[in-house]
Amino acid sequence: MSPRSLALALLLCLLPAFAAHPVRARRAMVVAQEPHATDAGVAVLKAGGNAVDAAVAVGFALAVTHPTAGNLGGGGFLLLRKASGETTFLDFRERAPANATRDMYLDSSGKLTRDSLEGWRAAGVPGTVHGLALAHRKYGSKPWAELIAPAIRLARGFPVTYSVAQSLKNTKLLAKFPESRRIFQRDGKFFEPDELLVQPELGNTLDRIARFGPREFYEGEVAKKFAAAMAANGGLISLDDLKNYRTVERKPLTGAYRGYDIVTAPPPSSGGLGILQMMGMLESSNYAAHGHAAAAAIHFVAEAMRRYYADRSEYLADPDFFKVPVTGLLDKAYISSRRATIDPSRASTSDSIRQGTPPASESAETTHFSIVDAQGNAVALTYTLNGSYGNGVTVPGLGFLLNNEMDDFAAKPGEPNMFGLVQGEANAIQPGKRPLSSMTPTILLKDGKLFMVVGAPGGSRIITGVMQVILNVVDFGMNAQDAIDAPRFHHQWQPDKLSLEKGFSPDTVALLKSRGHTVDSISTVANVEAIVVQKDGWLAGGSDRRSHGKAAGY
Ligand code: GLY
Repeated sequence: MSPRSLALALLLCLLPAFAAHPVRARRAMVVAQEPHATDAGVAVLKAGGNAVDAAVAVGFALAVTHPTAGNLGGGGFLLLRKASGETTFLDFRERAPANATRDMYLDSSGKLTRDSLEGWRAAGVPGTVHGLALAHRKYGSKPWAELIAPAIRLARGFPVTYSVAQSLKNTKLLAKFPESRRIFQRDGKFFEPDELLVQPELGNTLDRIARFGPREFYEGEVAKKFAAAMAANGGLISLDDLKNYRTVERKPLTGAYRGYDIVTAPPPSSGGLGILQMMGMLESSNYAAHGHAAAAAIHFVAEAMRRYYADRSEYLADPDFFKVPVTGLLDKAYISSRRATIDPSRASTSDSIRQGTPPASESAETTHFSIVDAQGNAVALTYTLNGSYGNGVTVPGLGFLLNNEMDDFAAKPGEPNMFGLVQGEANAIQPGKRPLSSMTPTILLKDGKLFMVVGAPGGSRIITGVMQVILNVVDFGMNAQDAIDAPRFHHQWQPDKLSLEKGFSPDTVALLKSRGHTVDSISTVANVEAIVVQKDGWLAGGSDRRSHGKAAGY
């Protein structure tokens, strides 16, 4: 390291470069990407509901107030750690419809069409209502209808913020589908900030789900209307697909980093495995000694990212369809061998990095919320429509937007998807399969006690975003808000570029280039929502200011 960069790194270590206060609460807290949804969750907690009750209320509220990603027509993952120490993971990811085929998004010359991104054929079978219902049935305590009531109220009208108004106005995708254009863009008479967005059809759908239970969405009148609209518009999801949808309860992945236990998302998420493998490469590398945001530290982390994403492209997929070599990919010797290929002073080229050979053994728009209740139960929930406003389609008469999650499959193995991710055969389309996800809801423990609840939206950048916030807390001693505010970077192997948010100094950028990185700029690397339990037992919430969320508690 040159004397100049060493001096800079030391300066960065010593100065409190960020000094934001997190929101603090004594007992319980919700951090979500939209304030009305946060308030709905806090109200449930104050009324004696537990973290799962609050998660159900926040999940339904976001479906009304955060239409870019909150949803009934999408899917996601819920990670729960009960105060007793028991953990579980509910996978309510969308599934490919029974009539889906491997090449359904290729034209007659074998070229990828845009059908995995826009319109009726892009949707996978939604899992959100099923997943929230299972969470509630097994782990909730308050009446189901009581938890949906805030969402129904919000559907009667809530004032849109400046950023929601801008987003609704500027989203060309919504204008392509008449029902979406009518509801969200008032046929061109766009919403101004503070005007009420009223969604009577969505309110009615929510009311039916509240009264008749989740079966209404999968077998009842709502399901029948939904399937009929699909058939009338060339979509693939049938009533049988809806009836056959199941949430899968899985064992979370676990690992450790510098004395912290990590509980995180297993496949079909690639996120949990990603953070465990990358942090495995970082542990004992001494990368953090260079200081936060120092070029040498960024370089080392980026090289770990490059290696993990190469593995991701080959080995990660729905474990019910493909044998994901989880143990091999997290094997200590394997991770050391990957670490050993990192040159601390020179960037690799992605073409020279292939997936490794682990030992044999076995609008990016999404949204995340983190919740801790007064008993110490914790929920990290990430769910999504995939792209912003999903496939753009609002189901006529039902008021909910549909996902375009089919694009998370490798529609053409070897070619990049919406996030530029190159994925392999393991993640090819098959009927009933779940597309590989990057969603990374994660919980950290210290000495067996809850320490951190974290997750993020952000497509392929979720994994690196979540990891950097954890590293900022664990390795650089930042509080929850500072850890989130700090600028982030991302490398995903292909394309071979290191993407930096604003906020890195020109010196740092120059040093990264001199190591051989192709550097570009990126608006955001995920939007992280985190709660950290302080040493004194208080909860500290950080909500990402890249978005318009809110942390609150009592
Ligand atoms: N749709 C984004 C993800 O699941 O990774």
